[in-house]
Amino acid sequence: MKQINVQKEKEFDGHKAVFRIENSKAGLRAFIAIHNDNRGPAVGGTRFFPYHSEKEALADVLRLSRGMTYKAALADLPHGGGKAVIIGNPKTDKNKELLSAYAEEINELSGQFFTGEDVGMMVDDVKLLKSKTNFIIGATPESDNPSYWTALGVFQAMQAALEEKFSASSTHGKTIAIRGLGKVGRELARLILSAGGNVIAADIDPDAISIASKELPAIKIVPTEVIHMQDVAVYSPCAMSKDLTSERIDEIKSPIVCGAANSQLATRADGERMHQKGILYIPDYLANAGGIINVVDELHPDGYSIERVKRGVEHIKKTAQKIIRLSKKEKKYPSLIADALAKKNFKA
Ligand code: NAI
Repeated sequence: MKQINVQKEKEFDGHKAVFRIENSKAGLRAFIAIHNDNRGPAVGGTRFFPYHSEKEALADVLRLSRGMTYKAALADLPHGGGKAVIIGNPKTDKNKELLSAYAEEINELSGQFFTGEDVGMMVDDVKLLKSKTNFIIGATPESDNPSYWTALGVFQAMQAALEEKFSASSTHGKTIAIRGLGKVGRELARLILSAGGNVIAADIDPDAISIASKELPAIKIVPTEVIHMQDVAVYSPCAMSKDLTSERIDEIKSPIVCGAANSQLATRADGERMHQKGILYIPDYLANAGGIINVVDELHPDGYSIERVKRGVEHIKKTAQKIIRLSKKEKKYPSLIADALAKKNFKA
């Protein structure tokens, strides 16, 4: 592992330390970025992804680690933000030797960075890492369902937004359009339906649709091209990054956008674009913090507590209410307010 200088990179944002890892014997090429650790050791998942170039991987790790700092700070967790990316195809390049070599590198950071599941890394991979290093989160039986907590956090944030736009926080009788019926989208649909709401959803993967429809037959499926155009109370992006492009924003009919996907805004200006259109956008890193609130609880000095996790995730609603209040008072769009609150918490 070698610390590298990234100050000239476009995504550089005062990162504390960035490391490049190359172990050709194990087929491992990776980056670990620690964005900030003012509040405590950095936390963030490890992404295994077939990046086209090292430059692309580096840009991703810089952007994602920064996002983790903001997410942890806004959720008031005693942690900073970090992230790791392994370059390769998770279906063909991931093996025990590579993951073991990667675990040794994490050990070298001596607890400056705790990591776990992300895109391309499954629970079993994280369990393997855990057998080689102590700096792993999210692989214990208590906390190994982060998607449920992520969905619950989105549901809480959604209630704050509904209260603002409809004077009633309940999803009862409301219709929510969800893009992406994966792990989080499905859990979110379940929560909405159990509370008496309706769900319209879309997914590019027919398997995801069939699993969700079997479990939750009340979901109405529509094509992915039109999911954001539904005349509903909330549009909820729960698929991939950069969902909210200017073209899509022009087509959105719902007064609220609130979902789980990371980095939903295609550009920062799109936060303001929605605000000007009268759409209440709940910043993604606030709404989707439930998963990280759950896994970092394993590191609490008193051990994991489901009650504390529940309180933390439910608090997302209060933070959303505060952001909505300040947004109106200061006449600034919610993402700006959220960024300022997070920065204050990690003392940027
Ligand atoms: P997942 O991979 O289980 O589900 C994503 C679903 O979106 C898949 O079914 C996929 O087919 C679908 N999809 C992809 N592109 C699409 C498109 N253009 N239109 C419609 N559907 C599309 O992922 P998961 O875990 O449910 O996460 C969803 C989002 O939430 C991701 O952006 C993830 O980074 C973010 N997130 C997830 C957390 C978790 O606890 N799982 C925590 C924080 C954020």
